[in-house]
Amino acid sequence: MPKRKTESEHLGGRCIRALHHLLNTVQIHQDNNQLVKESSAAFHRVVSLMSEGEDLKIQIWRGRFYIQGEKLLYRKETFPIINEMLEYFPQRGLEGFHFLSPFTDVAPDDLTTFAHLLNDSLIDENPPEWLEKTLKEKGLSWVNALKEQKKEPPSLVLKRKERAKQAYIDAVVTVKEVADKVSHQGAAGVRKARRLAQTMVDLVREDDTLLLGLTTIRDYDDYTYTHSVNVALLCLCLGKRLGLSHIFLEQLAISGLFHDLGKVEVSKDILMKPGTLSGEEWEEMRKHPLTGVRRILWLHASRTLKMRTILGPFEHHLNADLSGYPETHFVQQVSLFGQILHIADTYDALTSERGYRPRTFTPDEALRMMWAEAGKKFDALLLKSFINMMGLYPIGTILELDSGEMGLVVDYPDESERTRPLIMLLADDGKGGYTRGETVDLAAEELKKGTTAREILRGIHPSSLGIQPSLFFLEDVN
Ligand SMILES: [Fe+2]
Ligand SMILES: [Fe+2]
Repeated sequence: MPKRKTESEHLGGRCIRALHHLLNTVQIHQDNNQLVKESSAAFHRVVSLMSEGEDLKIQIWRGRFYIQGEKLLYRKETFPIINEMLEYFPQRGLEGFHFLSPFTDVAPDDLTTFAHLLNDSLIDENPPEWLEKTLKEKGLSWVNALKEQKKEPPSLVLKRKERAKQAYIDAVVTVKEVADKVSHQGAAGVRKARRLAQTMVDLVREDDTLLLGLTTIRDYDDYTYTHSVNVALLCLCLGKRLGLSHIFLEQLAISGLFHDLGKVEVSKDILMKPGTLSGEEWEEMRKHPLTGVRRILWLHASRTLKMRTILGPFEHHLNADLSGYPETHFVQQVSLFGQILHIADTYDALTSERGYRPRTFTPDEALRMMWAEAGKKFDALLLKSFINMMGLYPIGTILELDSGEMGLVVDYPDESERTRPLIMLLADDGKGGYTRGETVDLAAEELKKGTTAREILRGIHPSSLGIQPSLFFLEDVN
């Protein structure tokens, strides 16, 4: 992860903590108290640092803080403060603040006044309006209070969702086009695929939660193509966690997109066959990694790119102990790309509806099954990183709760411990289906005193409820 990103995450948490501290201190002490002076100076410092001479926007959307449109990540220790602030703003009908540049010119004493006004705004019936008027009267023109707008997500988030959705659709179309071309004309260009891989890498670096949500897209008819895109995205999310460089991530994305290109030579009847495959049919299916290599070599791309992207697809059905297929005497150890692909490919296949399997597994079941094979089928350390990344209940899992409710896992606010997710409750849409309900942070609920935290009973496969989790992630962009 680049240094600046880590720094901005760190500063984001520090900024909310500093504001929280200032708001509390002015309530307890006189304005000339040293503690008040120190806390307003601390808030001044952190906002100046974060704004870097530009305007700074802090917003809450769907129970999360966003700073300059970037979701704020924080650690468990900061939970209580963040949660307090996540209640403090909406209590006053506020979505957030816009600090105008140049913030460095703002006098620290003005920040004390600002904190008082914010606390006092609760006495009025319409806090945002009162705040707007009083801020103007006091000459605090460097800050705008943002009124709560329940429907609109921050524009940058919306833009990213649009880009992610478009990239996903484009990627499916591109894989399909390349597969069609190689099967009819023998070769195809990869310029579009390379551009897409770059966009996917950018998106993953900005916010992998959204992309993990997208990987819950399933298309039975276009299985091979949506599967290829899902595998590429899962590989990228894991690659990012492992700290792979931009160029390696791009090559990993291309390997993911084309890992099953060899399936163009497997007959549709076998690919779509309901029920178990015969010995001969499996034989045919098992040829696709090798065929894939040949097909990739025929692509119109540079030698270097081809050399760097063939190994993963060749090895993606090879196990860590070198069992699996294709049978080979050349490979002594499966390459990093091969191992990452094997994990992402197995996970996506296990959680997809496939004709040859009697039932589909929920994401948490799939991870447990895979963990049982750690060290044999999968490299244990890599699989551990993958499981840590996905969380106990991966994003897109539907959970049954002891409250009788059902919820969709949408995020893990605590990056360090992915056990109790942020969920979106599924509400009855009155037509026999489901619609978005309230968002609940299960981890925060557990820490809150005086409330009974909901407990997770089990994961349910979305197909049994007839819903596509991905649609809930993309609803705002339709
Ligand atoms: Fe495959
Ligand atoms: Fe695959």
